[in-house]
Amino acid sequence: MKILIVGSGGREHAIAWAAARSPKAEKIYCAPGNAGIAEYAECVDIGAMEFDKLAAFAKEKEIDLTIIGMDDPLVGGIVDVFEAEGLRVFGPRKNAAIIEGSKAFSKDLMKKYQIPTAAYETFTDPEKALTYLETAKMPIVLKADGLALGKGVLICKDLEEAKAGVKTLMLDKQFGDAGNEIVIEEFMTGREVSVLAFCDGKTIKCMTSAQDHKRAKDGDQGLNTGGMGTFSPSPFYTKEVEAFCEEHIYQPTMDAMAAEGRPFTGILFTGLMLTEDGPKVLEYNARFGDPEAQVVLPRMKNDMIEVMEACVDGKLDEIELEFEDNAAVCVVLASDGYPESYEKGFEIRGLETFKEKDDYYVFHAGTKFDGDKIVTNGGRVLGVVAKGDDLKAARANAYAATEWIDFANKYKRNDIGKAIDEA
Ligand code: AMP
Ligand code: GLY
Repeated sequence: MKILIVGSGGREHAIAWAAARSPKAEKIYCAPGNAGIAEYAECVDIGAMEFDKLAAFAKEKEIDLTIIGMDDPLVGGIVDVFEAEGLRVFGPRKNAAIIEGSKAFSKDLMKKYQIPTAAYETFTDPEKALTYLETAKMPIVLKADGLALGKGVLICKDLEEAKAGVKTLMLDKQFGDAGNEIVIEEFMTGREVSVLAFCDGKTIKCMTSAQDHKRAKDGDQGLNTGGMGTFSPSPFYTKEVEAFCEEHIYQPTMDAMAAEGRPFTGILFTGLMLTEDGPKVLEYNARFGDPEAQVVLPRMKNDMIEVMEACVDGKLDEIELEFEDNAAVCVVLASDGYPESYEKGFEIRGLETFKEKDDYYVFHAGTKFDGDKIVTNGGRVLGVVAKGDDLKAARANAYAATEWIDFANKYKRNDIGKAIDEA
């Protein structure tokens, strides 16, 4: 098979790595890709939002399956463009990707189908939002309706902060049109878990669990980022929690989307908060998590391409997902200053060490070639991943492996997986 992957981050590197392991894969392309992905795929200089160019490329190269890694093209309708051209593509159509693209849509869906989530109200009028806040319980959470690179969520500790938040999102439009509508929701406390699942429109099959670390600094301080590290599985996602989510969240979400005429095919990412009142949905995403994919895919025993084809063909019920009985930890190496301001273009050394070792991986997020050197080219630069027999071993291995890599302004969190010690 000829495969095209759309995206350029650490998640797409993990997807390319998994695709390359498939006996079905003869040739892999990635648009636009990065310096790490280039080891498995021929990188093509077409942007992820250039749907017509991508579809033309897929036709010209006779691509058998295109895998969309990123949220923006999915929410923008890339799958519909490919399908209209008769191309096979893995991912939800625009009318289903809205589960990630609009928080107001996903909250209303959960309410209508009684899927557990935080209590909320939606607002398009800033005055009404401000009036509502006067009598609301604090802390409270404000969310821009649309896509905002994971940064459109404001946790406000008091009324003053909440009012300032309405101004930021709705009046100053810090996240552009994403803030035309906002969701104001109850603040929840508990452990967070990410659960990724393959979906074929009817059937949903969950992968092993993971936990992300969204804040930039140790101790969950600093600004929200795209994700500074992950571990898998989550020791807090017990068999009981899983059984509850299967009954009340995953299949009900699939059935709700189908009932709404929006059958969901692709990867559904459910962000859960394990509250005292049971698991509740924080958010849905319509694609693999980044950096969740980096710890989940290396533990998957199945041929990822076979599973994706089963999703596209509506035959996921015939597949049994299997994961290794071990653990994996990913520590992101970032450019110091991320997510605010940082420098790029520094040479990265030590990447070759990973080629000699089983169970260690380095997934590139923001890198590029500069002649025959690989240099930093983003805020998140690399995801260093190691497996271990258990979470503690995986964490020790991953942190040891971060020392193999060297570049100017290298920054990492030192407490990825600290929660493991409390399990
Ligand atoms: P989201 O993009 O909706 O997942 O939100 C980003 C992050 O904000 C989540 O991973 C949580 O850490 C936090 N968050 C979102 N909603 C809530 C909530 N209702 N209560 C507490 N924290 C939240
Ligand atoms: N790691 C969170 C996300 O991919 O949205």
